[in-house]
Amino acid sequence: MSNEHSEHHHDSHDHGSHDHHGHANDQGIKGALRYLRHLPEMWRSPMNDAVIDLVDPRGGERVVDIGAGMGAGALPAAVTGAHVLAVEPTPFVRRVLRMRRAFSRSRACVEVVDGSAERIPVADRSIDAIWAVNTMHHWIDVERSVAEIARVLKPGGRVLLVDELFNDPSHPDYERFGAEHGPEHHGFTMVEADQMGSLLRAAGLTDVDASDVPVASRPVIRVTAHGAPGTDG
Ligand SMILES: C[S@@+](CC[C@H](N)C(=O)[O-])C[C@H]1O[C@@H](n2cnc3c(N)ncnc32)[C@H](O)[C@@H]1O
Repeated sequence: MSNEHSEHHHDSHDHGSHDHHGHANDQGIKGALRYLRHLPEMWRSPMNDAVIDLVDPRGGERVVDIGAGMGAGALPAAVTGAHVLAVEPTPFVRRVLRMRRAFSRSRACVEVVDGSAERIPVADRSIDAIWAVNTMHHWIDVERSVAEIARVLKPGGRVLLVDELFNDPSHPDYERFGAEHGPEHHGFTMVEADQMGSLLRAAGLTDVDASDVPVASRPVIRVTAHGAPGTDG
């Protein structure tokens, strides 16, 4: 119930906004077909499993998966008892995610909402941890997205952003996906680790580390940080 309610609420003040439904290349039949083709790894992936281990959500926390897709990260995260907000802008993908959630034992801990990195529909300083897997290159406005992450995080809250480098020959899926994941694949633009690091620091986040340290033995752009300290201490 609350999901439908939140969707309604956010739709009501977003009509006509260009960024409300995420990247244009995710829309329509072409977008849907691409997501169906990638369904197995959008269901469960070693990368999402590793990210959830690293973020380490705990019971009672409020956490956000930005661009949650079909729940590869959000559903395993909910098993911990954390309240997971699965933010997903693409209507088709969100529908699949809602269906999957309905069949999940942890559904009480997962809320699926319409939103994007540029518009995370939660109050300021209300989130304990936030992550994004393979969505940074879909973000339309990277600066605004980083400002949103800084806005919603509690002081000291955890951030982990990862984009896999499928076009790196050392990636185990290079043969399958390498060709379609060049720096400018499908019109998406890969972000750079340095750029992300500078933006997060400028937004006031602390302990920012932006590097290409592998995750799940895969080459990635990996950004970690903590929420800005509170003004009163
Ligand atoms: C490659 S999928 C990854 C999904 C999921 N995180 C996973 O690892 O399986 C990219 C996701 O980013 C979403 N997306 C598109 N534009 C976005 C935006 N501006 N902000 C956040 N997510 C976006 C897409 O709808 C899609 O679900």
